[in-house]
Formats: sequence, C-alpha cells, structure tokens
Amino acid sequence: STGKPTIYKGLVGVYADVSAISKVMPETNSLTYRGYAVQDLAENCSFEEVAYLLWEGELPNAAQLAAFKAETAAEREISPALHRVIREFPKDGHPMDAIRTAVSFMGMEDPETADVSDAAQRRKAKRLFAKIPTAIAAAYRASKGLEPLRPDPSHSFAENVFHLIQGKVPQPEVLKAFDVSMILYAEHTFNASTYTARLVTSSGAEMHGAITAGIASLKGPLHGGANEAVMHMLKEVGGPEQAEEWLSTRFDHKALVMGFGHRVYKSGDSRVPTMTKYAEKMAEVVGDRRWMETSRVLAAKMLREKNIHPNLDFPAGPAYYLMGFEIPLFTPLFVAARITGWASHVLEQAADNRLIRPLSWYTGLEQRPVPPMSAR
Ligand code: SDX
Repeated sequence: STGKPTIYKGLVGVYADVSAISKVMPETNSLTYRGYAVQDLAENCSFEEVAYLLWEGELPNAAQLAAFKAETAAEREISPALHRVIREFPKDGHPMDAIRTAVSFMGMEDPETADVSDAAQRRKAKRLFAKIPTAIAAAYRASKGLEPLRPDPSHSFAENVFHLIQGKVPQPEVLKAFDVSMILYAEHTFNASTYTARLVTSSGAEMHGAITAGIASLKGPLHGGANEAVMHMLKEVGGPEQAEEWLSTRFDHKALVMGFGHRVYKSGDSRVPTMTKYAEKMAEVVGDRRWMETSRVLAAKMLREKNIHPNLDFPAGPAYYLMGFEIPLFTPLFVAARITGWASHVLEQAADNRLIRPLSWYTGLEQRPVPPMSAR
C-alpha cells in the first residue's frame, strides 16, 4: 500500500510507556529518582541507599539500610565455576564483553533463574548488584595474570569495588567521589540499554537475560562506551595548551567529540555539575590538574562554537582515571551502577507488561516468484 506513515527514526520524541522510576526535565536540566533530585541524593546518600530507593520506591531507614547492606554484602562471592570460566576468557578481551559473559553465566547458575515472579526477580537483582563488581574485578585481574581477591562483607559498595580491583581501599574523598559517580550513573529513564532490558523483559524473559542485553547495549560508544572514549580523547589531546587546536581539527573533519551531546538534554546534562565538582576534587587529591583543565578548554569551545554541552560521561571519564582505574574498566563501572536502574525497569515492565513489538515500513523489492536453481 502507499501512504508511508511517519517514521520516528531512533524513536526520537516517542513516549514508549509510562514509568514512575525517574524523571528527566530537560527544560530545567534536572533529574529526579522517585521524586528526589539526583544532586541531593549524590551529596547526602550512599549508593546503597539509592539502590534501595530505586527498587523499593522509598529511601531506607537505618534498620532497612543495615539489612539491605548485610543481605547484598553476603552475596558478593562468585562461584568457583564462574572463576574457572573467567580464567578461560581471552586475555585481550574487552572488560565489557567479560562482564556481559559473566552475567549471562550467572543466569545459568542462579537457583531461581527461570522464576520470573516479582519476589524472585528482586532477589536476582540483589545478587547481580552484589556479584557484578566481583566478576568485573576477577576478569580484570585474570587478564593481568593476577589472582582474584576475596570480597570483604564489612566493606561498603564503594570500598568493595576498590578492594577487589585495586587491592586497596582509598581515602574517604575518593570513596565519596566514586559513590557520587555510582549514584549519578544509576538511572536515566528510557536510555538505549534500559529500553533494551525492558524489551527483553516484555517477552517474559528473565532478569539475567535482560541485564545481559542491557550490558551489550551499554558498550556502544554512542552510549556508555563514551566514558572510556572521553579519556582516550583527553590523552590524545595531551593537555590544555593543545585543546583548542585539537578540537578545531575535529570540527574540520566533522568528527564526533566524545562525551558531548545528548538525546534528551539540549541545554546541559543535569548530572554534569555534580560529577565535575567531584572530578575536580580528584584532580586536587591526586595533584594532577591536566585532565580537568583540558576538559574545561574543550567544553568551553564546544559550547561557544557548536552550542553542544557535555554529558555525564565527560567528567566521569577523567574522574575514574584519577581514581586509578584503567580506561577499559570505565564502562564496566557504569554497569555496576546501572544494574540498579535496569533491574528497577525490569520489575516495572513485568508488573504491567505488554509485549513490545513495533511495526516496520517495508521498502524492499516488490513480491516476486522464486526462480528455479538453474535460472539464478
Ligand atoms: C549516555 O540516553 C541517555 O540517557 C544516555 C545516558 C544515560 O545515562 O543512560 O545519558 C548515557 O549514553 C550519554 C551519551 C554518551 N555518548 C557520547 O558522548 C557520544 C557523542 N555524542 C553523540 O554521538 C550524540 O550526541 C548522542 C548519541 C549522545 C545523541 O545523539 P542524537 O540525539 O541522535 O543527536 P544527533 O547525533 O542527531 O546530533 C544532533 C546534532 C548533529 O548535528 P546536525 O546533523 O544537526 O548538524 O548535534 C551534533 C550532530 O552532529 N552533535 C555532535 C555531537 N553530538 C551531537 N557533534 C559533535 N560531537 C558530538 N558529540
């Protein structure tokens, strides 16, 4: 038939469903989780409190938080079988492929893998939240020929990540900056990976499948992969002195500048000021101002000449670098945070589900008969 319908390429501007988890308000550059401003949560809460908030809908009281921390800390160990699988991973494999594969394997081992009841899915989400840093760290250390470290249940979420990956727990300012990054990365409405997780859920598939797919989506450089791309870019620029000229050359080639632009925010990402503040603190703690000064020059020129603002990945990249993480771990750290938002959306989708199945407008060849083999 004729009469091509309006095609919303990239689903730009399409409301695909309702959600009560978070709200992005691009007019005011603001974002709330369950009604609380992210800046407020980042300054005043731990990541564990925010995980609880996203899943339960309310902030925990002291007893609820203690129970949540104890319950998840007790689930941090990964199985001997998963440790063996991780040791078999290609040493030069990307850490995002490692965590995607590890989460998929965890699904096969999970005692409630096929149980998609709300209660079982919540327990699986907590297990993933607890085990993902352990698997990221084990794969990272295996790639370096190092033995994995055992999680310590007395550690906070942030302490645990540093202990497992770096073998040491840093000073409180560093832990706070890391926790802030986790809170800011936790949730962001229907971004590509979250929508992927909801789409997988809509067929009745289980938690680990949805999260595995979410990780696959997050890896792309237009999405979560941008935080590592930002740091590669800053290193390529070299320093603030070269930044103006480097960016002019990018403009000449009409090349994308990583860590800039956003589908929803057109006048600034709500999370950037808070993350920039903590990235600056990291620069002070480490005594290395080069990356933040380079960032400042790039951001000023992008705004002046292209009217494009940075997104969260722009300050998160140098923040993680200054915290001592290797660049390929940056997007896996985003996974460790976003598991909270993904799982929250999986639960919400499942609670009021309808199979997600859009239409495609056909632009291929007219219908034709199959020719016999001799005529091809
Ligand atoms: C995340 O959706 C989310 O919420 C994601 C996220 C989350 O929390 O889940 O916020 C996390 O994924 C952040 C985004 C990380 N990606 C990058 O930093 C990669 C670089 N940025 C882009 O490629 C781009 O801005 C996107 C992918 C983020 C958004 O793409 P859109 O909405 O499809 O916009 P577009 O590519 O059509 O850009 C519109 C215009 C274009 O120019 P014109 O063709 O109109 O002349 O702006 C230009 C673009 O060329 N532009 C850029 C640019 N981003 C947009 N030009 C140079 N460098 C850029 N980064």
